[in-house]
Amino acid sequence: MWTEFAAKGEKSWYHFLAARQGEDILGFAAYGRRPLTEATFDLYWIGTGQQFQGRGIGKKLLQRVVNEVRNLGGKLLIIETCGRPEYEPTRQFYLRAGCELEARIRDFYAPGDDLVVFTIHL
Ligand SMILES: CC(C)(COP(=O)(O)OP(=O)(O)OC[C@H]1O[C@@H](n2cnc3c(N)ncnc32)[C@H](O)[C@@H]1OP(=O)(O)O)[C@@H](O)C(=O)NCCC(=O)NCCS
Repeated sequence: MWTEFAAKGEKSWYHFLAARQGEDILGFAAYGRRPLTEATFDLYWIGTGQQFQGRGIGKKLLQRVVNEVRNLGGKLLIIETCGRPEYEPTRQFYLRAGCELEARIRDFYAPGDDLVVFTIHL
């Protein structure tokens, strides 16, 4: 995904953005269109460096993704994450950042390991 974005830039199917401070990358996000849909996008990854978490960087990255998707004509952003207890902070982040809890598919990744789907309607 990165290779394609690095080669094609804005024309790439995948898009990356980074939160920077000088030369340092504090966090990043990656998103792209969902094939076979009219205006749906997926957030593939979002991450803030461990030492930078809890400072509003993830929220700003997500807001930036939302703005970019909107500018590309997107109407729906899908965010998938894991239902295991250790992902509770991540799920709280999505809820606090304004995402809607849309679905849960039990045992998706493995027995006892659910898929949790959040959405943002644009
Ligand atoms: C999830 C992640 C991206 C959040 O980024 P962040 O920069 O720490 O988040 P922010 O500081 O922008 O927090 C935004 C909101 O989420 C809340 N939040 C963030 N981490 C939280 C946590 N561990 N528990 C509860 N709430 C949390 C914040 O309190 C804040 O709420 P507020 O705006 O009401 O004050 C980051 O913790 C991370 O990289 N985690 C590991 C990787 C990961 O799980 N990525 C997602 C894969 S699906």
